[in-house]
Amino acid sequence: MTQPNPEATILIVDDDHAFRVATQTLLEDEGWRVVVAKNGDEGVILLGTEDFDLILSDLVMGRMSGIAFLQHVKETVPDLPVIMVTGFGSISTAVEAMRKGALDYLTKPCNNEELIIKVRKALEAGKKDRELKHLREELNTTYSFGSMVSRSAKMKEVFEKVRKVADADVTVLIQGASGTGKELVARALHFNSNRKPKPFVAVNCSAIPENLLESELFGHERGAFTGAIKQRIGKFEEANGSTLFLDEIGDIAPAVQSKLLRVLQERKFERVGGNTTLEVNTRVVTATNRNLEMMMRDGDFREDLFYRLNVFPIVLPPLRDRLEDIPLLSEHLLKRFTDLAGGTVLSLTPEVITSMMNYDWPGNIRELENLLKRAMINATGGVITALDLPQSSSSVIETGAGADPNTPFKDYISTILRDAEKKYLLRMLEKHKGNINQIAKLMEVDRKTVYRKMSEHSINPSEYRS
Ligand SMILES: Nc1ncnc2c1ncn2[C@@H]1O[C@H](COP(=O)(O)OP(=O)(O)OP(=O)(O)O)[C@@H](O)[C@H]1O
Ligand SMILES: [Mg+2]
Repeated sequence: MTQPNPEATILIVDDDHAFRVATQTLLEDEGWRVVVAKNGDEGVILLGTEDFDLILSDLVMGRMSGIAFLQHVKETVPDLPVIMVTGFGSISTAVEAMRKGALDYLTKPCNNEELIIKVRKALEAGKKDRELKHLREELNTTYSFGSMVSRSAKMKEVFEKVRKVADADVTVLIQGASGTGKELVARALHFNSNRKPKPFVAVNCSAIPENLLESELFGHERGAFTGAIKQRIGKFEEANGSTLFLDEIGDIAPAVQSKLLRVLQERKFERVGGNTTLEVNTRVVTATNRNLEMMMRDGDFREDLFYRLNVFPIVLPPLRDRLEDIPLLSEHLLKRFTDLAGGTVLSLTPEVITSMMNYDWPGNIRELENLLKRAMINATGGVITALDLPQSSSSVIETGAGADPNTPFKDYISTILRDAEKKYLLRMLEKHKGNINQIAKLMEVDRKTVYRKMSEHSINPSEYRS
């Protein structure tokens, strides 16, 4: 006997005892699990209590006809495949059953081999349908946090981290390339903490000349330096009881680094030119697009300060590593701009979406935002087309594969998603040197799924192993 195949449970509904017993034995010998019902009513009850992968149902039964039972199945579990079994001579009813959603039919007495082939085919088709459905659901899942939206597993992880640490009062270091949403994360941290009633205070450290940054952060006493005509409160004091966001932290000079270290360690500092030691309860969140670890190794950033800042790191992935976010982000941003400016929300042609998904986005979401803003100005007729993309970027964003106007939108989008999926897999393989374990973990699917997807795209992972 074959090993039981737990992946498939088949329900047989038939009032013919001999047929039930024979078919059950036959299918169980193939390794499937089989449940039987004597009539449609019993079948309905079983359907409500168990999940089946396939139904074999008689067409002509006592009280409830096979057609009525089929209709019940299609209404309650529309994706569940049904094979109708019909006595000789009722082919026309079998055809009607097919029209009502049956997948196939068999005539009694059944040829065992034919029955097994049809069952196997139906189970495989059902499995494929479910996988496709699951994939579609996965593609439609969106994550959001504050004003951030995403469809990528990586960003989901980021949102989870933000949620976890928001109220924890620890120092957070947000790293990521320019335009990836670092400031948005910093704000989300503040507005999801118990400090949110107080104003969020932000300082862009790179925008303030080196000699003024210290006074900006810690304040100064009157006469502390030329131009200090009166006492001034610094940002640490202003953010007492609240959150202080120090943006571009990689750009601060060594003198300020030391003073920052002290306030992080002891919560204490003096205003520039002052003797009084002040104590504050300020939660510090910092961000940078520079590689602080490398700066630390080169001696440009204090190691002790780095560890103080990096108590809880959050790293934002670049947009090119989450291209699946582009349609969602575009929709979200277009809606936001329209809310601000009025008018109707524009949509993007599939061609524009393809182009966008073929682009590398060095400026990340900020670049996407700018592109959409400019395209909105150019667009006419409620739709943004490739022609509305600014000259400069349409030369970077190749206008992509021309959309065939005869292709239904659904098919076109699924082609795009397929392409994106392939690109994503190739990038993963390159980046992780063909390590399927690691890739599966990052993709949040099991290894089998990764292998299957790769084979669907005729990708051979071993070519990427070094
Ligand atoms: N996940 C997201 N969902 C919606 N909008 C986003 C998302 N991430 C970023 N944005 C938008 O993209 C723009 C850039 O984000 P933000 O200013 O937070 O990035 P940044 O990493 O601080 O950039 P920079 O390094 O240039 O300062 C903002 O207008 C922000 O609203
Ligand atoms: Mg920023």
